[in-house]
Amino acid sequence: MIPSYANFGGKIHGGILLSLMDKVAYAAASKHAGNYCVTVSVDGVNFLQPVEVGELVSLLASVNYVGRTSVLVGIKVTAEDVRTGSVKHTNTCYFTMVAKNDAGKPTLVPGLLLETRDDTRRFQEAIKRREFKARYHQEFDNARTILAVVDQLHLLENERCQLAY
Ligand SMILES: CC(C)(COP(=O)(O)OP(=O)(O)OC[C@H]1O[C@@H](n2cnc3c(N)ncnc32)[C@H](O)[C@@H]1OP(=O)(O)O)[C@@H](O)C(=O)NCCC(=O)NCCS
Repeated sequence: MIPSYANFGGKIHGGILLSLMDKVAYAAASKHAGNYCVTVSVDGVNFLQPVEVGELVSLLASVNYVGRTSVLVGIKVTAEDVRTGSVKHTNTCYFTMVAKNDAGKPTLVPGLLLETRDDTRRFQEAIKRREFKARYHQEFDNARTILAVVDQLHLLENERCQLAY
């Protein structure tokens, strides 16, 4: 990580890491798909620890799951202090990529060969993650449609805000 990647606090800018993750997700997905892919959705991006200038960042990616036209890529990010050899895990996240044909339409991707128990576990976890995400969005949308602002003022009681109208 070179100094020009740093933010005003001297740590590596989160956007630099996001950009690297997107490129790695693209490489893994398009290689599996045999087609160009686009990023559709990113889940689980949390910057658990800061990355310092000079650290060696590694991105480990695997195709965890495939749908009809989508490919889910899991990415683990680590940062190593090359002087001490200490390695810290900074992030694990999941990119959903969709393969596109020459007409720009989503196109079928090959099925996935599960070669190890870990491959199988990741595939199963991806199915669960997909179900939970769909359920979360459904429930949140339902809650939002019934959320009348005046009836929900108690939600603000222990929050650090005040009404200014
Ligand atoms: C992603 C995109 C192709 C979906 O188009 P669509 O007409 O809705 O196509 P479909 O409904 O057939 O969805 C295609 C796949 O995307 C998946 N998908 C769509 N929206 C999704 C979302 N928000 N999260 C996860 N997967 C999603 C669908 O589940 C489907 O997967 P499957 O074929 O494996 O079942 C379209 O929205 C698009 O081109 N978006 C722009 C992507 C882009 O340009 N990214 C670069 C950054 S700007």
